[in-house]
Amino acid sequence: MSDFAPITAPARQRQQASIGQPLKRQEGVVKVTGAAVYAADNHPNGMLHAVMAVATIANGRVSALDVEAAKAHPGVVEVMTPANRPALAKDPDDRDDPFMFRLDLLQNDRVRYANQAIAVVIAETFEAATEGAALLAPRYDVEIPRLDMNAGEAFVPDAVGPGFPSAAHVGDVEAGLAGASRRLEATYDTPAQYHNPMEPHAIVAVWDGDKLIIDTPSQAMTIARGRLAGLFGIDADDIFIRSPYLGGGFGCKGAMMSPQVLGILAAKLVGRPVKLVPTRAQMYGPLGHRGATRQTLRLGMDEAGKLTALSHHTRTTSSVFDEFFEPASNISHTIYASPAISTTHDAVRVHTGTPMFMRAPGEASGSVALESAIDEAARACGMDPLAFRLANYAEHEPISGKPFSSKRLRECYAQAAERFGWRKRLLEPRSMRDDNGLLVGWGVGTASFPVVMFEAEARAILRADGTGVVETGAQDMGQGAWTALAQISADSLKLELDRTVFNAGASDLPDAGVAGGSGHTATVGNAIDAAGRDVIAKLVEMAIADPDSPLHGVAADQVVARWGRLEVVDDGVRGENYADVLRRAGVAEIEGHGRGRADADVAERYAMHAHGAVFAEVKVDPDLGQIRVTRMVGAFAAGRVINPRMVESQFFGAMIWGLGFALHEKADIDARTGRIMNADLAEYRVPVNADVGSIEALVVDEDDPHVNVLGIKGVGEIGVTGTAGAIANAVWHATGKRVRHFPIGIADML
Ligand code: MOS
Repeated sequence: MSDFAPITAPARQRQQASIGQPLKRQEGVVKVTGAAVYAADNHPNGMLHAVMAVATIANGRVSALDVEAAKAHPGVVEVMTPANRPALAKDPDDRDDPFMFRLDLLQNDRVRYANQAIAVVIAETFEAATEGAALLAPRYDVEIPRLDMNAGEAFVPDAVGPGFPSAAHVGDVEAGLAGASRRLEATYDTPAQYHNPMEPHAIVAVWDGDKLIIDTPSQAMTIARGRLAGLFGIDADDIFIRSPYLGGGFGCKGAMMSPQVLGILAAKLVGRPVKLVPTRAQMYGPLGHRGATRQTLRLGMDEAGKLTALSHHTRTTSSVFDEFFEPASNISHTIYASPAISTTHDAVRVHTGTPMFMRAPGEASGSVALESAIDEAARACGMDPLAFRLANYAEHEPISGKPFSSKRLRECYAQAAERFGWRKRLLEPRSMRDDNGLLVGWGVGTASFPVVMFEAEARAILRADGTGVVETGAQDMGQGAWTALAQISADSLKLELDRTVFNAGASDLPDAGVAGGSGHTATVGNAIDAAGRDVIAKLVEMAIADPDSPLHGVAADQVVARWGRLEVVDDGVRGENYADVLRRAGVAEIEGHGRGRADADVAERYAMHAHGAVFAEVKVDPDLGQIRVTRMVGAFAAGRVINPRMVESQFFGAMIWGLGFALHEKADIDARTGRIMNADLAEYRVPVNADVGSIEALVVDEDDPHVNVLGIKGVGEIGVTGTAGAIANAVWHATGKRVRHFPIGIADML
C-alpha cells in the first residue's frame, strides 16, 4: 500500500452537482446586450447583398423578367435567374432522405407556390438589391392554383414521418362503436400555421475555391452539410457552418431551405461573399409551415364512461411537388385506454410551400382535436372532464400494448388540479361568472410527447491544470440548451461548472445531431456524459497504474471522481487531484469520447413518453365575445430535470404557443391567388404578453430508469400539447359553445 497523499481540500462550497441547479442562460448577457453575433451580423470583406424576387402567383410560369432594368440599377452587380444560375451536382427535386426536402433553386420557370423565389438580385447594398428586385417586374402565365384540401383527390401517404406508418389499428373499432351506449362523431379544423422565428433563415456565404464557409442558423448542421455536399458536388468536410446563436427555430431550421442555398449559389455566381436574408413576408412559402388539418374523431363509450372505440382520421395537405404530412392522428395511440383504436391519414396536394416539422408536429394539432373530442365525450356521459380522463387512464400504451418506461400522468393531473382549484368547478357550462359579469370557463387537456433521440457525439478533455473542456456541435435555439449541456459537462467530469469550458455551435465540432423532437438535451447530454466518463476511466487507469499515486493498486471500480479529485470509494481521505495524476504522467491532456442515441432494445420493450396535464381558465365577455385566458396551470413529468429554470421556461413557452394555437395563429390564404394575406407579424397573430394571464408550470418528479443513462425525456414541445384543447374546453365551459375550428375567435362567440 502506498503512502497517503496530503489532503488538498478544494473549496467545499463550490462542490455541488451542476445538474439540477436553476442556472441562468450562460449566453443571456451577450444576447440581451446585442453582443451575440447572429448569422446576418457577419460582414466578410467584399460582401454583396442578395435579395430574392418572389412569385406573386401560386401556380403557373414566369413568362418575362426585366433583367436588363434590374441590372441597369446603380449598385446592382448581377441578377441570377434560371438562365445563369450556376450548375448543381444534384437535381433539387431529387429526394432520397426524409430530412432533405425538395428545393426551389431556380431550376426552371415553374411556379409551384406563392413567395417561391423566381430570381435573386445581387448588389453592393441591400437597398440596391431590393430596388433591383422590384425592377424585374415579372409577368406570368397564370394557372388556377389548387388550395382547398377538402376538394380534389386525396392520397394516402406511405408514411407520415420518418418511422411512422400513415395508419395503425388495434381491436375492432366498428364493433366497439356498435356496442357503445354513447357515441360521438366530431370534425375539427386547424389552419395552416407559419413558424415565424424572430431570426429569419439568414445566410452569409463565402466560397474559397471548392470550400464553403457559411454563417446560417441550423438545427442540424450535419444534415445541412450533407445536403449542401450533394447539391454542390463537394465533400461535406469542405463545408464549414457556424451556427452559434439561433433566433428561434421551431423545426423550420431543421433542413437547409431554398433561400439559404440561393445565397450560396449567388456567392458562387459572383465569386464574392454574399449575404441573403429573407424578409418576413418571404418566410411564408419556401421555409416550411404546419399544414392545415381536418380531423374526424369517432368515440364510443360504455355506461361507465369507458371508451369502447377511438377512431381518428386526419386529412392534411402536402405541396404539389414534395411530401410532408402532419401526423396528427398519432396522438390517439398513446393517451387514452381503448380496446379498439384506428388512426389514419390522407392528404391533398395544394399549391403552397411544402409543410414541415413545426413545434410538436402532429401532436400539437392532433392533441387539440383529441382533447376537444374527449371533453365532448365526457359531456355526453355527464361526467366531469377530469374524472372522464381518469376513467380512461392508459396503464400501458394502447396502440402497442407496451408498458410505459415511466408515466406519472396521474400525479400531473392531481398536482395541477389542486393548484388550479379544479374541485370548485361547476359541471354545467355557462354556470360560472366573475364579479364583473364575465363568463368563466375551466378546461383541462392532457399533454403527451414521445421521447425522441437522434445521434450525437461529444468530446471531453481534461487538461493538465485539472480543468475540463467539452465540445460538441450542439445548437441552441434560444431555449437554454447550452446551459443545460454545460451543466451535464461539468458533472460528467466531476468538476465544478467554472472549471469546465463548453464549446458548441459550429460544424467542426463533434456532430451533435438534430436540435429537434425535444430530444437535443437527451441525445447530446448522454453523449457528453459518456465522454466525461470515458475521460475519468482513463484517468483512473493512469492513477492506479502509477506507483507514486496514493491510489496505486486500488481496483478501478473502487475509485470515484469527486470535484477534481480521485478518491477511494467510501474512504474520502485517500486520493489525489486530477492535476497531480496528469503532472506525474507528463500528459498535457486526456481526451474521451461519447455517443448518445436511442437504444433500440429499450424502444422495443417500452413506450416512452413525457406526460402532463394543463388546466386553463378563460373569461368571455357575454356582450362582446372577447375571450381572455386568465390562468393556466400545467404539470409535467418528463424524467430528469437538468435545469429547473430552463425547463419551466420551456413549459411556459410551449403553453403560450398552445394559447396561440387556440386563439390566434392562422395563415389567411387568398382562395383565388394562393397568396398569404397576413404574411407579417402584425396580422399573423402570435400571443404577446398582454394575451397571457397567470401561468404556472409544475415539474412532477420522475425517475425513468429506461429512457437513457441520464433519465432525460425532453421538455421542449410537450407544453404545446394539451394546452390548446384545455383552452377550447374552457371556452365551451364558459359559454356552452363548442367551437370545432381553430383559432377560436370573437365571431364564434356571437
Ligand atoms: Mo422541432 S418541430 O422538433 O424543431
